Amino acid sequence: MRPYVICHMCTSLDGRILGNRWGKLPGYKHESELFETTAASFGIGAWLVGTTTMDEFDGPKRPLPRAPRNFKRGDYIARPDAKTLGIGADAKGVLRFQTDEVGGDHVVLLVTERVSNDYLAHLQAAGVSYLFCGKKEIDLHTALRKLAKGFKLRKLMLQGGGKFNGAMLKAGLVDEISHITVPVVDGGVGVTGMFDIPGPPPRRAAATLRLMSQRVLRGGAIWARYRVVVRHTR
Ligand SMILES: NC(=O)c1ccc[n+]([C@@H]2O[C@H](COP(=O)([O-])OP(=O)(O)OC[C@H]3O[C@@H](n4cnc5c(N)ncnc54)[C@H](OP(=O)(O)O)[C@@H]3O)[C@@H](O)[C@H]2O)c1
Repeated sequence: MRPYVICHMCTSLDGRILGNRWGKLPGYKHESELFETTAASFGIGAWLVGTTTMDEFDGPKRPLPRAPRNFKRGDYIARPDAKTLGIGADAKGVLRFQTDEVGGDHVVLLVTERVSNDYLAHLQAAGVSYLFCGKKEIDLHTALRKLAKGFKLRKLMLQGGGKFNGAMLKAGLVDEISHITVPVVDGGVGVTGMFDIPGPPPRRAAATLRLMSQRVLRGGAIWARYRVVVRHTR
């Protein structure tokens, strides 16, 4: 069993995702207002992001104190009853937390065997939960299975960035896409896109979608929801 995954993103007309390049959007105080209000309307209390995106919410990068000698490695669920979750990938143990919450959501990290005991002890001291999901790389199937079991998670919002979305799509783990197009053209070649899958471009697109609904929002943003109907293997 794994949670149903909805990828929710705001992009420029040309599919690029770095909102700090867009200037002020008409009708909104900040691009995050558009993103957050539309995301909240799903009523799904769990979001999942890649390391670079989670790095925007974590604490200062301080040296780690030593873990106790007898420190035991293994999955750690600090708050199994947490109502809302902020989940981040951290295969190498680079993030730092002072509390167990981001914006009121309990932090859960997906880690690998590469992370040190010092790092895990630091997470425990902050009250952050973590799940081991692979040796060197995060196995995304394992991650979703463990999240479903450990937190009784049935639905999940995948919220970027482009590399992590791309990996989830490639793994066949995106069920739906909630896409807000803001009335901006970025135009920057190489600027991060909504689904960035590394390697040479394949001969055909990564997925075929079916439009479920479409709405025009304040300021001329367009909100479209799609079901992923065919995932092309690469
Ligand atoms: N417009 C929007 O709606 C929106 C939403 C979210 C984010 N963003 C923006 O997106 C930007 C970040 O995007 P990004 O693509 O550079 O980074 P990202 O997707 O947030 O994070 C990518 C990193 O996650 C780590 N990772 C761990 N396990 C992975 C796995 N199985 N597959 C893929 N990556 C894995 C990798 O780092 P290691 O190799 O070091 O482990 C990888 O480099 C930020 O500027 C953020 O503000 C925009």
